[in-house]
Amino acid sequence: MPVGVCAFAKINIGLKIGSRRADGFHPLRTVYQTITLHDRMRVDLARGTGVEIRCKDQRVPDDESNTCWRIAERVMKALKVRGRVVIHVEKTLPVRGGMGGASSNAIATLLALERLLGQQLAPEERLRIAAEVGSDLPLFLIGGTVLGLGRGEEVYPLPDLPELNCVVATSEIAVSTSQAFADWDSQEQEKYGKGQAAGRLTATTASDKLSGFSRAVFAWLGGSSTGVPAKGSGDRAEALLLDLVRAGIENDFENVVFPQHPELRAVKRALEREGAAYASLSGSGSSVYGLFKSADSAKTAANRLNAEGISAVATKTLTKREYWKKIWA
Ligand code: C5P
Repeated sequence: MPVGVCAFAKINIGLKIGSRRADGFHPLRTVYQTITLHDRMRVDLARGTGVEIRCKDQRVPDDESNTCWRIAERVMKALKVRGRVVIHVEKTLPVRGGMGGASSNAIATLLALERLLGQQLAPEERLRIAAEVGSDLPLFLIGGTVLGLGRGEEVYPLPDLPELNCVVATSEIAVSTSQAFADWDSQEQEKYGKGQAAGRLTATTASDKLSGFSRAVFAWLGGSSTGVPAKGSGDRAEALLLDLVRAGIENDFENVVFPQHPELRAVKRALEREGAAYASLSGSGSSVYGLFKSADSAKTAANRLNAEGISAVATKTLTKREYWKKIWA
């Protein structure tokens, strides 16, 4: 019997990029937040060997470049089992949209395989395999509100934010994350010049910015709205949104992606104009989201954006508890 599983999306609330490491990756700091938008998947085991990926969306690769393929091979090997893994993906999430779709698909595959086989990997083995396949995978082993460090793969559960109303605007633009990081490097070099001294200066500035992120997150989540009990969860959500704006938490990728795709900056502006308390690019884009004070205002904004020709959907953030409850729904 195939196992059905939901692969939820994530947004990034703030993302700071440090200087390129010797291994080519960039240290970063981010707060990941899972949301209710998802792909539906079905995973099954058949006789034989190898992996088969079935997806109607032509943009989804059906070979070993697919994260589901890579994780399925590793899970089968780690659990020392043989069989052909058949994975159906019903794609709703944007491809290369900065919402972790491919990463979430891979974790859903891992969880479904464990369930099919009636065996579980040790938690550290799960994390090792997830991080090996991609920087954005491990967050989906936690769900809810997650702190991301290292190259994004070093994850720590944060106390969950209350449910927030969100509008996600998607576009046909596909942003390559590795290209966005390379463009970030070029932009930093242009700003600070070349040469060893400039390199040191860039590294110092980058490291200052990384610690600046910790201060901003402290100002946001260690602030009054979390300490003082509010009247209701709606009040707390509203106060958190205000504090988020005040704390100046931003996504560094906007500085490289918006100049290349001015239409995405316009989408952010449109979200703000329609009442978002906070709006940002998610990951390296191209998805842009806005956080709203109420479900009604989010729905109205999504309708207005769609009427303007911007593809938008009203959704909600997903706490850890809801993430794990709904994943098998
Ligand atoms: O880990 P993931 O497969 O998502 O990374 C894709 C590419 O993005 C990497 O090959 C690397 O070029 C870039 N990257 C980076 N720094 C990170 C994460 C990814 O430079 N923290």
